[in-house]
Amino acid sequence: FNAMPVTKFPKGFLWGGATAANQLEGAWDQDGKGPSIDDALPGGKARFAIASSPEFAWQIDEKKYLYPNHQGIDHYHYFKDDIKLFAEMGFKCYRFSIAWSRIFPQGDETKPNEAGLKFYDQLIDECLKYQIEPVITISHYEMPLNLAKKYGGWKNRQLIDFYQRFAEVILKRYSNRVHYWMTFNEINSAFHFPVMSQGLVPKTGSQDFTNIFQAWHNQFVASALAVKFAHQLDLNLKIGCMILYATSYPVDADPSNQLANLKLNQDLNFFCADVQVRGKYPSTTARLLREHHVDPQKLSITEQDLQLIAAYPVDYIGFSYYMSMVTDVTHRDAKNVAGNLVGGVKNPFLKTSDWGWQIDPTGLRIALNQLYGRYQKPLFVVENGLGAIDQLTADSKIHDDYRIDYLRQHIKAMLGALNDGVDLMGYTPWGCIDLVSASTGQMSKRYGFIYVDLNDQGQGSLKRIRKDSFYWYQKVIKSQGQEI
Ligand code: BG6
Repeated sequence: FNAMPVTKFPKGFLWGGATAANQLEGAWDQDGKGPSIDDALPGGKARFAIASSPEFAWQIDEKKYLYPNHQGIDHYHYFKDDIKLFAEMGFKCYRFSIAWSRIFPQGDETKPNEAGLKFYDQLIDECLKYQIEPVITISHYEMPLNLAKKYGGWKNRQLIDFYQRFAEVILKRYSNRVHYWMTFNEINSAFHFPVMSQGLVPKTGSQDFTNIFQAWHNQFVASALAVKFAHQLDLNLKIGCMILYATSYPVDADPSNQLANLKLNQDLNFFCADVQVRGKYPSTTARLLREHHVDPQKLSITEQDLQLIAAYPVDYIGFSYYMSMVTDVTHRDAKNVAGNLVGGVKNPFLKTSDWGWQIDPTGLRIALNQLYGRYQKPLFVVENGLGAIDQLTADSKIHDDYRIDYLRQHIKAMLGALNDGVDLMGYTPWGCIDLVSASTGQMSKRYGFIYVDLNDQGQGSLKRIRKDSFYWYQKVIKSQGQEI
């Protein structure tokens, strides 16, 4: 046992930043890329409401809506400049995703699109030029649009084969240069948003939890197949899961709130991770199904699937952490938190972001302890950050001390967790360069260390500008988290 407290992050800690292809690349129809489901999601706060309406059928109507993902921040053409800026900050790693429809434009063809593969060759090589370790999410909230339209998304078992083909092509191509992978972004988010993570909308059955559950099962099998293939290629590859984690507190000591909170944790925070990390469905599954009116007889789950899931658990747990929530089933006096993405009631001890997400650094330390205590596998905070409106000053500066403060508190919380004995691999704050928001399709919801001159209407010079947080994060990395 070490008597001295840990005051800095370990050598080899993966400091970096995170993005997703559909939110920054743009070039949505270039070099053979097919449309993805995100290319059919309009910009603006009504994005989810539109996609959740009964008539939504993935139609792209450019006369009616703006589609900010089509342009992204044009990282497809600016990637060299962007990675240079990441290198200037001292990134040790860069988490990005591969646009499935750049590699398999329709998703169901057998031959990959070589131009798409070449783009990621260049992206990876550009990272390696600066000794930045690429960390790849195989599927980040997207799939080729055709798979959602023609096959009904992940509820269809055929998706396993299509994903397997995609995963094997990219693993084979890049594994000599890329050592860290994740199979699905925020796989558990289908509790709230099956549209992006499973390609399910009301027309294809998102209202019926049987479909959501079947989609998860198919994803678990697909994830196990990817782990299997990755380890066959190279045992040193690290391939993880990725979950959305929101620390949750009961509103008071009333046992009914305590029990409700326990169940919420078992379901939202742990259910998917249990399957992917422990290799089997948790004992709470039957209750979960019952509570969501799912008849287990209607699910297609084979013995062979279960063996695969058991044989190929993930190597590490990647997770996103933005906010905490409060469970209240007694509804005494708490008011609903407007905009807290994952629900719950107001926590009077916490401030919220401009979008109503409750800011809770201590919740991150709790998350790290809960996850490590449960699984004893290395953890990787692959998303965290503050979506905020930034003001560009007349002399082209962005004084984002609010963002620095948010990140500082969360880094301190991670240091606390290291002192609690947690095994933490790295930290990649979300949207290290401003990009299109996933939940609202806005550019004005900015997370980056780097400002991109682009507004919600898609106008702007696309110029990249270093924010104050850029210089701050540079120091953090250089000092291994001592100078914060
Ligand atoms: C995570 C997603 O849920 O949160 C990202 O993995 C997303 O894709 C991020 O962008 C922040 O959410 P938002 O809605 O503010 O973009």
